[in-house]
Amino acid sequence: MAPSIRLSPAQQRALAERHRERLRRCVPWSPALRWKPELEIQGSTYQVLELWPGIAASDAPVDQLEPGQFVDSPSRRFRYCVRLHRAGHTLLTWWGNQVGTVLFDTDVIIPALYQARGPDDPGTGYWGETPWMSLTPAELLTLRPGTRLARGRTIVAGLGLGHQLIEVSRRIQVKRVILVELDQELVDWILPRIRPHLRKPLDVHVGDAYEILPTLRADVALIDIFPGYGDGFRRVAELADESPGIKRFWGWGTSEMTGRAQADR
Ligand SMILES: C[S@@+](CC[C@H](N)C(=O)[O-])C[C@H]1O[C@@H](n2cnc3c(N)ncnc32)[C@H](O)[C@@H]1O
Repeated sequence: MAPSIRLSPAQQRALAERHRERLRRCVPWSPALRWKPELEIQGSTYQVLELWPGIAASDAPVDQLEPGQFVDSPSRRFRYCVRLHRAGHTLLTWWGNQVGTVLFDTDVIIPALYQARGPDDPGTGYWGETPWMSLTPAELLTLRPGTRLARGRTIVAGLGLGHQLIEVSRRIQVKRVILVELDQELVDWILPRIRPHLRKPLDVHVGDAYEILPTLRADVALIDIFPGYGDGFRRVAELADESPGIKRFWGWGTSEMTGRAQADR
């Protein structure tokens, strides 16, 4: 059994005061916010795109959602839902090798995409315990250094909720976006919801980025296909070597780990 820690009344009061102090210093959300170990955000300013408007937000476990609280893909391999995140509760953030927390002063909604658990995946429910992608501050802040590199012909590898695809398409420096996504069902099911938000012509390649990217020509490739943050260093370097037609590569987590992500936000 894990050892229990008993706080003295004075320690409990100090913790509660510290929490209230964090709630008092909330600032408006911006994806250009500089990462700090403690972030505090005004919930009313945290506007995220709902791909299926009208889905009711819930904080129930993803396996226990009621009809009206989710949309499943045709074969039930993917579930879109909207997480209700409560005021004052913390969420993890990360930046390079540092970890922190963020909290909001009101309840906020966080759209999320879950994938069905594979037979060998740890856990017990039908759905994986952590989402494939969710629009948390941590995800939005750590995708931004890549999005800021986008220009000319930009490849976005990894569709997820289409967040980076949409952000890339909004940049005036970008002329054309090339999506590379492994999963045909995800593309057929979710891309029609994302397309109305895209502002540039889009080419779609369905297949393995490791095979497709070496055949493409582009100014930049933004890669977010790795299971964990910063996992992709070696794979991105290999892909860059194998892809002479692509001028510049970025992988999720890599710029923060080399300290080159916040210089000129
Ligand atoms: C974390 S999600 C991407 C989230 C996305 N950046 C966004 O802004 O919503 C990862 C995506 O990569 C895709 N993927 C995983 N492995 C891949 C591969 N080898 N080639 C292409 N896509 C892959 C997954 O199907 C998933 O859509």
